[in-house]
Amino acid sequence: MIPAFHQSCSEVVGKWDNIVLDKGSSCEVDVWPWLMSMTADVISRTAFGSSYKEGHRIFELQAELSELIIQAFRKAFIPGYSSLPTQGNRRMKAAARESQAILRGIVDKRLRAREAGEATSQDLLGTLLESNLGQGKGNGMSIEDEIEECKLFCFAGQETTSVLLVWTMILLSQHQDWQERAQEEVRLILDDKNNKPDIESLSHLKVMSMAFYEVLRLYPLVSLLRREVNKDVVTDVRRNKCGNR
Ligand code: HEM
Repeated sequence: MIPAFHQSCSEVVGKWDNIVLDKGSSCEVDVWPWLMSMTADVISRTAFGSSYKEGHRIFELQAELSELIIQAFRKAFIPGYSSLPTQGNRRMKAAARESQAILRGIVDKRLRAREAGEATSQDLLGTLLESNLGQGKGNGMSIEDEIEECKLFCFAGQETTSVLLVWTMILLSQHQDWQERAQEEVRLILDDKNNKPDIESLSHLKVMSMAFYEVLRLYPLVSLLRREVNKDVVTDVRRNKCGNR
């Protein structure tokens, strides 16, 4: 996955370089939208490989859906309101339908390629489909479940990583001594590799890891996790089985 990470990051940093060249080093750049787009790009490349451009649209739709859901939560709860054809409800349904259709299209394309004897893609979707098709009959996930997994992956990965990156940039700007230490470390470790990171070199970035851990400690990305048990479950420990009551 690292070449895909590297490509997406280099593209953004290259564009920032151009802005600075154009407007001068004291210009102001709102990095948040760039980071949101970059993390979507990274996940899309690693999850959907060659279909990553189609995958990108899923992130826009999910962002729109989240916004509409937040707006709906702010309103007073009226039973049955979510089924009314209001402008917001219609837009939510249309966005959900569109993202479902895009994913379905990507999955179908993969299944057709598999039938035509093409090699399996090494991305998340390829791994998921391959692992599932290798299961015994009745044991695998349905295509609908796989589509839901892809949606979850996109949703869970984008904002978390962009928020982490934006806080890291803020804190490193506030603590310039740490910024210099981190830059020195990156230069030392990556200069040898012509600035092309690999898993080995990334594992040596100790100061950067310390910075990320500290950001996660100060500004946790997930502040609340709600769990709800919707069915009673009986567990038979001796037979290692569980079933719904
Ligand atoms: C610093 C970044 C991240 C943080 C802090 C974070 C945090 C979390 C937390 C707290 C959970 C819930 C764990 C639980 O069920 O107890 C979770 C679940 C999950 N995360 Fe992340 N996450 C991050 C990045 C990512 C990325 C980059 C991806 C994928 C691209 C991802 C995909 C997922 C998925 C798929 C789940 C659901 C797992 C499951 O219940 O099946 N996360 N994450």
